[in-house]
Amino acid sequence: MKKILIFLAFTSMAFSIDMDALLNYNINSENVDEKLGETLYIKTYKCAACHGAKGEKASGTFSALDSKTASYLKSSLLKYQNDRDYGGKTRFVMQRYAKRLSHAEMDNIIAYIKGSDNLELPNSKNAEPAKKTQDGLFIE
Ligand code: HEC
Repeated sequence: MKKILIFLAFTSMAFSIDMDALLNYNINSENVDEKLGETLYIKTYKCAACHGAKGEKASGTFSALDSKTASYLKSSLLKYQNDRDYGGKTRFVMQRYAKRLSHAEMDNIIAYIKGSDNLELPNSKNAEPAKKTQDGLFIE
């Protein structure tokens, strides 16, 4: 019994750490490099092939990336990476791409699509601090 309790305490701890990593998607506008984001988006990962040169292309299963907020883009990439049920019927396509991205790469790509003055996230210039719910989760 003791062992089970220790195991439960351990897994719930691991879970809460993961959730923080998932929900605390801050992009600091001073730490991003739009130029590098452009290279990652166009050359390294070829996101442009499906999403257009600067995220302007839409299809039956996704909308134009440049019409979304930076916060939405970051949380959706993290969800494709970590939650296999997230997304639409073509999500398996995006899961492959999202899994290759580091957090810094996501931030640079998003800065390229939105412009580093338009990140609208906690820590970015002129942004309000993130609001937390009573459960300690950040509101998207
Ligand atoms: C082979 C085509 C393809 C490539 C390459 C690709 N994507 Fe996608 N992307 C998709 C599809 C298809 C979806 C919609 C998936 C679904 O059904 O949920 C999508 C969805 C997304 C979404 C969510 C959009 C929304 O409307 O919610 C984001 C953000 C995104 N992609 C970013 C990227 C980034 C960044 C890269 C490069 C690292 C990339 N994609 C590369 C096909 C692609």
